[in-house]
Amino acid sequence: MQFIRRGLQQLSVYRWLAIGALLSMLIVTATNLVTPQLFQSLIDDGLNARNSDAIVTITVILVIIAIIRGVFNFTNAYWSETASQGIAYDLRNELFTKLENLSFSFHDSHNVGQLMTRATSDVEGVRVFYAQGVLQLISALVTFGGSIIILLATEWTLAIAVLVIIVLIVIVFAQIFMRLGPMFGRVQQNLGILNDILQENIEGIRVVKGFTAEKRELERYNNQNQILYDMNLQVVNVFSIGFPTVFLLSNLATLIVIWLGGERVIADEMSLGTLVAFNSYLTYLIMPIFQLGFIAQQLSRAQASGKRIYEIMDTEIEIQSKPNAIDLHDNVRGDIVFENVTFTYPGSDEPVLKNISLHAEAGTTVALLGQTGSGKSSFVNLIPRFYDVSEGSVKIDGVDVRNLELDSLRHEVGVVLQNVNLISGTVRENICFGKADATDEEVEDACRIAQAHDFIMQLDNGYQTMLGEGGSGLSGGQRQRLAIARALVVHPRILIFDDSMSAVDADTEAKLRIALKPYLENHTAFIIAQRISTVRNADQILIIEEGEIVERGTHDDLLHTSQLYVDIVNSQLEDDTTHANTF
Ligand SMILES: Nc1ncnc2c1ncn2[C@@H]1O[C@H](COP(=O)(O)OP(=O)(O)OP(=O)(O)O)[C@@H](O)[C@H]1O
Ligand SMILES: [Mg+2]
Repeated sequence: MQFIRRGLQQLSVYRWLAIGALLSMLIVTATNLVTPQLFQSLIDDGLNARNSDAIVTITVILVIIAIIRGVFNFTNAYWSETASQGIAYDLRNELFTKLENLSFSFHDSHNVGQLMTRATSDVEGVRVFYAQGVLQLISALVTFGGSIIILLATEWTLAIAVLVIIVLIVIVFAQIFMRLGPMFGRVQQNLGILNDILQENIEGIRVVKGFTAEKRELERYNNQNQILYDMNLQVVNVFSIGFPTVFLLSNLATLIVIWLGGERVIADEMSLGTLVAFNSYLTYLIMPIFQLGFIAQQLSRAQASGKRIYEIMDTEIEIQSKPNAIDLHDNVRGDIVFENVTFTYPGSDEPVLKNISLHAEAGTTVALLGQTGSGKSSFVNLIPRFYDVSEGSVKIDGVDVRNLELDSLRHEVGVVLQNVNLISGTVRENICFGKADATDEEVEDACRIAQAHDFIMQLDNGYQTMLGEGGSGLSGGQRQRLAIARALVVHPRILIFDDSMSAVDADTEAKLRIALKPYLENHTAFIIAQRISTVRNADQILIIEEGEIVERGTHDDLLHTSQLYVDIVNSQLEDDTTHANTF
């Protein structure tokens, strides 16, 4: 029961609230258990004995007890809800922190919808269990045990007849909840799958519409929705067959009490008050079984949810700073060495980079050319440790990146990713994403270099223009330029442009290149590009093929030594003579 143990740890933060709620619950239970005794006394000592003083006294006591019950019912509900909301708050925060820290490889292999389900509906499942389940469990056990003892003490023969029925009820309940347990796990899992489809479609609505795939997607959603519906119906089925059976049995128990007890009252072997009290205790005996059933159901849901939550919490963060990691700040030069690097994506068998060796001296620019899928993005992603090398090492200023403090490393390596990801917010907020306190001047400088300033000024509210999710409202080339500005504003020593100018027209690209040139003079840069014009001024040009460097040198070197390079140049000259020569 690892889930319970960890849940209790989580609960211990709110121990005073929990203890308060528990004590309140016990007081409520005690008032419940004492009430039938008072009724018995009311009937036997008051009504039967025709003693009006006793009636008044007992009534007053009953009213006081009702007030006490009311007050502690309130404190119990209030404190237990507060504690459970606290647990949910902590869980959500911990989960979010973990999701933020988990490596790329984790996010590569987990779907957004599933993760969303865990962070929302699974957390709620666990919360409800702690709000209601745990305390009710204790109260139910106390009520159940207390009632049995009182029943046996008052009329043990009658009590034993009743207990036979109770055992039957317990068996039926056990049956119900043994079936429900695994069903809830499946319901949650399928809810996650449904959320995946939902999320994919909302996010990719343009693609769906562009390919007129609405019908097919609707069908896919419908199918999954149907599976979820069917599973929920299975749950309902178990409930709707099980519960009437339990009701029938509990009515039977009441009948036995009235029949056998009634005979004894007539035979004067038992007082009427005792019979009434006995019947009330019977209710107290059956009620906790219902409660236990619900708690078992909450428990199985909470357990399924808890397992999914803790699975994420327990996932090892593959890429993190070592205990004695070296801080890269301030004195970084930006000398980068790849030493015999081989890299295989986690979970894959084929290396995507093989035996890569490279020395990029501080302040130089390295360009990478290669066909799609050749491994260029994988190559540069090793520098900020988005992934770790499988063999060999990547060093900055002679230190293996794995020995560097991760935040400082990533701060010094500015990456313009291939897929531009903007956030919803203003243009300025997007540019300042990596440096919230950037001055207007810094922002504008970065935007001028990135050739973004002019188009931003033409937007309705300039830098304060609100962008939709993912930067909607901007063209692809505009988004790319914002992403470049966003990286420049941080002033990292090392810059990586992963195909960052592909959506920019050739004229703008030429301007961008000219503006970047002085900026890059004291930065180490990696530029992945398709156009020769973008890379021809680089200090080293690498041609990557199937994860290996097949050619390297400057533009002039390669023109003499590499037929492959000459072929690429020629093919682009044919396409675009003017732009290739603008530089
Ligand atoms: N997260 C990942 N997990 C597993 N394999 C991956 C992952 N990302 C890329 N790959 C594989 O690694 C290989 C190299 O991919 P990479 O993205 O580095 O190519 P690329 O040269 O950048 O291509 P492009 O020019 O299209 O951007 C491809 O075969 C790709 O399928
Ligand atoms: Mg790529």
